[in-house]
Amino acid sequence: MDESLQIAKRARDFGLPDYFDMQAAMGQTKHVGGWTATQELAQLCNLQEGQEILYVGCGAGTAATTIAMEYKCRLVGVDLLETMVESAREWAQRRGVAERTEFRVADAQDLSFEDDRIDVLICESVNTFVPDLDKAAQEYVRVVKPGGYVGLNEAVWVDAPPEAGSEAMTAITGQENTQFRRMDRHAR
Ligand SMILES: C[S@@+](CC[C@H](N)C(=O)[O-])C[C@H]1O[C@@H](n2cnc3c(N)ncnc32)[C@H](O)[C@@H]1O
Repeated sequence: MDESLQIAKRARDFGLPDYFDMQAAMGQTKHVGGWTATQELAQLCNLQEGQEILYVGCGAGTAATTIAMEYKCRLVGVDLLETMVESAREWAQRRGVAERTEFRVADAQDLSFEDDRIDVLICESVNTFVPDLDKAAQEYVRVVKPGGYVGLNEAVWVDAPPEAGSEAMTAITGQENTQFRRMDRHAR
């Protein structure tokens, strides 16, 4: 068995929290490329002051609340974990954007938003953990207004992902069905 897998299983055996629970408790999550990548994505999505943004997989809320603060937009953040949503609300208070933000539990595969509502949807380092990517993609497109943007920042493998990678990531994060994905040759 891969060593990282053994460590993760052992941690859980000792009642230690999964990686995401630990991050929520610390109030910190991260994504590929950090804030620089988020800014680049926002620019590509033509994100403007006053727009309504949906940030899918908001995690602890650091990136989502920074977007709300820097771009002076209204932002709804969703995450599968209540602990992450609570952390995001705390960041919103700390950053003075609580009145323009809302955080709630939702699954990327079932966003429970009306059609054509959102100006820009942003999602960073989340889709690796989403079991049915086609379903999630349909949801992203459904909730965005015609002419709006879906901005994804995701780590993908150019070559075939390592066989034990997805299993190790599932063990570390506690999120079932985590899948390292290979970049489709059409994707950029
Ligand atoms: C690596 S963190 C990234 C968080 C955030 N985007 C950031 O950059 O700080 C991944 C987040 O995706 C969330 N997540 C995983 N699967 C999800 C799903 N199906 N729907 C919504 N959120 C999900 C996890 O709970 C976790 O908070």
